[in-house]
Amino acid sequence: MARKKITVVGAGFVGATLAQRLAEMELGDVVVVDIPATEQMPAGKALDITESAPIYGYDCKITGTTSYEASAGSDVVIITAGIPRKPGMSRDDLLNTNAKIVSSVTENIAKTSPNAILIIVSNPLDAMCLVALRTSKFPKHRVLGMAGVLDSARMRSFIAEALEVSMENVHAMVLGGHGDTMVPLPRFSTVAGIPITELLSKEKISAINQRTRDGGAEIVKLLKTGSAYYAPSASAAEMVEAILKDKKKILPCAVYLEGEYGVDGVFVGVPCKLGARGLEQIVQLNLTVDERAELMKSASAVKELAAALK
Ligand code: NAI
Ligand code: 2OP
Repeated sequence: MARKKITVVGAGFVGATLAQRLAEMELGDVVVVDIPATEQMPAGKALDITESAPIYGYDCKITGTTSYEASAGSDVVIITAGIPRKPGMSRDDLLNTNAKIVSSVTENIAKTSPNAILIIVSNPLDAMCLVALRTSKFPKHRVLGMAGVLDSARMRSFIAEALEVSMENVHAMVLGGHGDTMVPLPRFSTVAGIPITELLSKEKISAINQRTRDGGAEIVKLLKTGSAYYAPSASAAEMVEAILKDKKKILPCAVYLEGEYGVDGVFVGVPCKLGARGLEQIVQLNLTVDERAELMKSASAVKELAAALK
């Protein structure tokens, strides 16, 4: 059986780390595309990853290139191209610079890999998903955004730390846009199946929620020269795995909503079933009035940003 083909566009911190993770998970052959100042950079990173294969024991082929030729016919394409946040910069400051980049990348991908499932990572995430959907003209089940998996992973790690339990025991659900208005849902966040609302005080939960919302900024503040990439690449890899292994895994992802959760015409993070078709189902949660209001506020912030796209 031929191996699956995965393209990662952008060989920066997120893209290169993701390529390494995909290879180590042996999910398919990986092509990394970038247009850096030093043209040889993608080839250098691909060769470096290839040279770790004998140690990790994977056989997939890793290619680094500045053209889309080698990526043609990809099954999944992850777009990480763009500029990252600098200290003091919001994700939204990146809007129009990254919109141009994501639009030109998507145009190339739509031509060379017309049947691919797209996973967008570039920020501001929800607006970039809209750019990719419009440019590619792909059906909405093949354009997904990575944010909820990352935001939930951050929340999971904070819960595990607070309760001194294994990370493996913790699940969390963060919906909404990938920004300051994201919506952590403690009622749907559990430790060994027990909602954290039964395990932690209101104050502790509120602190965890806020740290989750500030999760990206916390890393930017520490790194100073860029943004997070270990957890983001792990999150994108989990989505790729769910698709290529047709796992039917339920993960929070940014998807184009047409009335679900009362939201229409924008990408917002909601629980999704991911499988071979990409988005296979949007899972409808029974939200309280307050939870729903928070989600609406977040959707409005995403709409505002989408309207500012030039
Ligand atoms: P980076 O600067 O390390 O890498 C970006 C790469 O994109 C660079 O190598 C650059 O040469 C490349 N690039 C720029 N224009 C291109 C084009 N037209 N075609 C191909 N490649 C192009 O940045 P990093 O840290 O990897 O972050 C990438 C993006 O992902 C940023 O927008 C960042 O904000 C976003 N991000 C999103 C997350 C999420 O949760 N959705 C999490 C982490 C990062
Ligand atoms: C993050 O949440 C920068 O969006 C990126 O780390």
